[in-house]
Amino acid sequence: MKQDTKIINAGRKDKWTNGVVNPSVTRASTVVFNTVDEMNSALKNRHKPTMLYGRRGTTTSFAFSDAMTELEGGAGCALYPSGTAAITNAIISFVKSGDHILMVDSAYEPTRDYCDKILAKMGVETTYYDPLIGAGIEDLIKANTRIVFLESPGSITMEVQDVPTISEIAHQHDCIVMLDNTWGAGLNFKPFDYGVDVSVQAATKYIVGHSDVMLGTATATEKYWPQLRDNSYLMGQCTSPDDLYLALRGMRTIAVRLKQHEQSALKVANWLKSRPEVATILHPAFESCPGHEFFKRDFTGSNGLFSFTLNCGNRTALTAFLDGLSHFKMGYSWGGFESLVLGITSVDSMRSATKWTAKYPLIRLHIGLEDVDDLIEDLNQAFVKFNEKL
Ligand SMILES: Cc1ncc(COP(=O)(O)O)c(C=O)c1O
Repeated sequence: MKQDTKIINAGRKDKWTNGVVNPSVTRASTVVFNTVDEMNSALKNRHKPTMLYGRRGTTTSFAFSDAMTELEGGAGCALYPSGTAAITNAIISFVKSGDHILMVDSAYEPTRDYCDKILAKMGVETTYYDPLIGAGIEDLIKANTRIVFLESPGSITMEVQDVPTISEIAHQHDCIVMLDNTWGAGLNFKPFDYGVDVSVQAATKYIVGHSDVMLGTATATEKYWPQLRDNSYLMGQCTSPDDLYLALRGMRTIAVRLKQHEQSALKVANWLKSRPEVATILHPAFESCPGHEFFKRDFTGSNGLFSFTLNCGNRTALTAFLDGLSHFKMGYSWGGFESLVLGITSVDSMRSATKWTAKYPLIRLHIGLEDVDDLIEDLNQAFVKFNEKL
C-alpha cells in the first residue's frame, strides 16, 4: 500500500469504527463488567488495546495509536497531552539517577529546559552536542550515557542531522536513540528505517493540522515499546478522546496538506533568496541549510516551516517588518493551515555547544495554505517597512 492510501485507512479497524467511516469518540473513565470472568479477561489483556479503565485508553485512543504506528512504523505508540509531555516522558522512561544523556544543541527550547531544570535535579546529566557532529558523537559517549536525543531539522536554526551515522554509533555503545520527528511528521522521514528507537512528535503540529489541539506521541521499536508503554501508564498519561478524534480527522488530509505547504514554502524561499535583505535560507531543501546533504539522502519531502537570516537590520526594523505583516501572524507554533512568523534576535541564548555567528536577526516562517502569491506580496510590503527603519 502506498503511503497516501495507508493514511486514509490507518487505525480504521471495524472494532474502533462500529461500521462508520470515523472511529467514534468514546468518553470514559469507568468501564463496567457484568461478570468476574469478563473483568479478569480485560485485566489479563491490559497491555493490548482493551477497554479496562479510561486512563488505559478507549477505542478512540486505540484507533489513533494504531494509526500513528502505521504511519511512523515501530511496535506501538504512547499518547501524551502535548508534544513536550511526549518528549519529557519518553526520556524519563529510560533514565535513572546517575545516567547521562546527549542532547542536540538545536533542540526545541523546552526540551533543553527539561534537561537543565528537571533532569539535572534528578541527578541525570546532560551534554549538548553540535547537530552536525555525525560520527564525532562517539567522543561524547560515556559509560553511563543512556540516551542520544536528536531533533532533525533543529528548532529555529534547521540543521539536518546524520541520523543513521549517529544511531549506528549510539547502538554500538548500547544507547537508546530518540528523535523529535515533528518536522518529518512521520511522512517525510521514516525514523525506524534510520536506526531510531523512539520517535517523538508534537502531533499538535501537522498531524492535527488545524491549530486547535495539543497532543504528543512517542512511537517505539519492539525492543523499547513495553518499557515506554508501561512508564507512560505509570506516569498517569492519558489524552482526551475529543482531541484524539480531531487528530484522527486531521491526519486523513496530512499528505495533501504537506504537499501544498511544501510547494508554497519552496516558492517563498526561492523568492526570499533573491531579496537583498536576506543572508541565508535555512530550508533543508536548500544547499545553504546546514546538513542539506542528509535531507537529500534521507527525506522524501519538506513542509511549510523554514527560517532565514538577514544581512542587515536591527530590533526596530525587525519590529516594523513583523508588525507590518497581515497574513503572517506571530505565534509560537506551526503545522496548522495558517501562516505564522517569528522574529528572533538572540539565537545564541538557546545554544551552548555551538556558536551562532549570524550578526543580524533570524526570521522563521510557517507557510500556510493561503494563496502563495498573497503571502509573497505580504512579505514584499513588510520589507518596505523594514527598510524604512534601517
Ligand atoms: C520541534 C518541536 N517539538 C516539540 C514541540 C512541543 O510540542 P507542544 O507544543 O505540543 O508541547 C514543538 C512545539 O513548538 C516543536 O516545535
